Amino acid sequence: MSIEFSFPRSDVSTAVHVVDRVTDIDVSPDFLVLDSEVKNIYGDRLPLCDYVIELPGGETSKTPDILEKLWLEMNQAKLRRDSSVVVAGGGTVCDVGAFAASTWKRGVNLVLVPTTLLCMVDASLGGKTAVNIAGEKNQAGTVYPASEIIICPEFLETLPPEEMANGLAEALKTAVIGDRQIVEYLLRKDYSRAVAACLAVKGRIVAADLEENSERRLLNLGHTVGHCIEAISGFTVGHGAAVAMGIPVAAEMGGNHDFALEFKELACKLGIETAIPSSITLSGMLKHLESDKKTTGNGRIWIIPRGWEDCEQVLLDRTTERELLEKIWQ
Ligand code: GLY
Repeated sequence: MSIEFSFPRSDVSTAVHVVDRVTDIDVSPDFLVLDSEVKNIYGDRLPLCDYVIELPGGETSKTPDILEKLWLEMNQAKLRRDSSVVVAGGGTVCDVGAFAASTWKRGVNLVLVPTTLLCMVDASLGGKTAVNIAGEKNQAGTVYPASEIIICPEFLETLPPEEMANGLAEALKTAVIGDRQIVEYLLRKDYSRAVAACLAVKGRIVAADLEENSERRLLNLGHTVGHCIEAISGFTVGHGAAVAMGIPVAAEMGGNHDFALEFKELACKLGIETAIPSSITLSGMLKHLESDKKTTGNGRIWIIPRGWEDCEQVLLDRTTERELLEKIWQ
C-alpha cells in the first residue's frame, strides 16, 4: 500500500509505503542512523551501508551533543546535497537523525523507517525534528518532511510492552482528534489498520498546516501536561504514556468530566496508565509549563477535548490556567 501526502510548501511531499516484512524494505542509504536495539534484532535483514551510526533509543539521544556527533560523522562520510540519509528507529532517534539530515548542507534527502508504534502513527509524519535543551522537550528543531516513510508492522512483534503502550496512547490521542474508529482497530489489535487510519488523520491536518500556525496545534492534545510530566520525571515516563495522562487533565480543564472518565476507561482497556504519579506536583508543572511552545504573551493555548473528533483550541490566561490546574491537583 502507498499513500502520498503533499504539504503547502512548494515541492514538498511525503510518500508512505507499507511493507509486510523487514526484508521488503527497499532503501539505498548513503548514511544510516540506526537504533542500536533495531540493529541487534534486525541488522541482518536491513539494507546497511558503509556509514551506519548507531544510537540508543530514548530521550538521552535527543541532545545537541548527539546532533553534533551526527554532523561530524556526515562530514567524515562526505555527504553531498544529493546524498540520501535513512533513519530507522523510534521517535527519539528519528527526531535527532532527521534534524541532522535537515540541516546538513541545508537539507539532504531523508527517508524514515519508524520502528515503534508511536513513531509509525505520529512522529514520522509531518516533518517535525527536534532535540531537547537543558531537560526541556523539543526546544530546538526544524520542520523538514521526509521524502519517504516506510512502515513495516513486523517491527511491532519485538516491541517491549511499555513501548507498545506509548504508541497505543498516541494512537488513542489521534482517535480523539479525528477518527473514533481507530479505537476499534486498537481494541482488536489490528495495528496495520490503526496505523493507516492515524496517518490519514495526521496527514490531513499537516497537509493543511505544516508549520503549526493553526489546525496542527490540535495534534498537541495532551502534550502541554505530557511534556511537563516527561521533564519532571527525568524522562522515566515515556512520551505516549505522559500524553495519555495529559488528555484527561485537558478534558477536566474544559469541564468535560464524563469524557475524561470515558478516555481513562478506554486507556485502561488498552493497558495504558493514566494516573499521574504523585511526584508530579503542581509547582513542578507550573515551572515547566513556561517552556511549552503554545505559550504566548497573553497566556497559553490549550487543546481541550469536547468529545470524539471534537477538540478546541482555548487560550487561557495564567490566572485562569492556574485556578483550573489547582482544582485538578487538590
Ligand atoms: N506530534 C505532533 C505533531 O507532529 O504535530
